[in-house]
Amino acid sequence: MRSFTSVHDVASIGIPTILEQATQFVENPWSFEHLGKRKTLGLLFMNPSLRTRMSTQKAATLLGMDTMVLNAGADSWTLETRDGVVMDGTATEHIKDAAAVMGKYCDVLGIRTFAGLTDYEADYAEVVLQSFIDHSGVPVISLESATRHPLQSLADLITIHQHSFIRRPKVVLTWAPHPRALPQAVANSFAEWMLHADVDLTIVNPEGYDLDPRFTAGAVCTHDQDEALTDADVVYAKNWSATTPYGAILTTDPSWCVTKQKLALTNNARFMHCLPVRRNVIVADEVLDSPQSIVIQQAANRVVSAQVVLYNILRSMQ
Ligand code: CP
Repeated sequence: MRSFTSVHDVASIGIPTILEQATQFVENPWSFEHLGKRKTLGLLFMNPSLRTRMSTQKAATLLGMDTMVLNAGADSWTLETRDGVVMDGTATEHIKDAAAVMGKYCDVLGIRTFAGLTDYEADYAEVVLQSFIDHSGVPVISLESATRHPLQSLADLITIHQHSFIRRPKVVLTWAPHPRALPQAVANSFAEWMLHADVDLTIVNPEGYDLDPRFTAGAVCTHDQDEALTDADVVYAKNWSATTPYGAILTTDPSWCVTKQKLALTNNARFMHCLPVRRNVIVADEVLDSPQSIVIQQAANRVVSAQVVLYNILRSMQ
């Protein structure tokens, strides 16, 4: 694996092998503790993070790597992303210069960026992530980009796999309300990974929130939450902002909150969310604090997913 930005980057390895590797790292986290010796992982964050930041550093430690972490604009310079502009505004350094320099200090880079939610074309062009891939000269891991969150999705897949469903599980991705406009990255990415996995995926959201078919083709897509939740084995809640108009909040209808009453429609479903979560907005306390919630296991698996990805990148560098 050269870089890791989506499910397509594990195609040559295959999801069954990736899941076997995950199981090995759960059973013996230190089994390749020397693989990354004398290698440095640089992590650049352009927005706040708890899980991605800590789990990726932990995964690097388990593989013997050193890590360097930067918060763009706080402890490094603000970055210009547009090509050919006169840089007489607030941005101090061009992204292609920063990427090239970081690639000289680090053997692998992890980049966390966020959708601007004003310009669909710009966000979906993934300018920031692509600039690091084009100019750093080293493998790049997406720590969440404008349109995808692949380390999260791999952790989600590992978590579902650990539950060993007897039948092919029905997995439901349900939109839930939120007071702020959030990107579509987690939802896009979860859909894309589930459609490559051994599950049946249903996506349910209010009208105006339909995700880009490039990520959802093959899923059952509906606007009726109760119908979608019926007989679900896994319920994955997430807010995302509207696709038309892009980045808008069209509703905060509280009836979409995942409550105990909603979960009663399911096949005793496990509840998942990537966290951080707004309690009693996205999901009721009675669900999040119940045995049906597996969100902490899901967050713990962020270490496993990062370790699997770093392991495959380090192996390909040998
Ligand atoms: N799920 C997730 O990416 O969490 P952080 O934003 O805290 O990294």
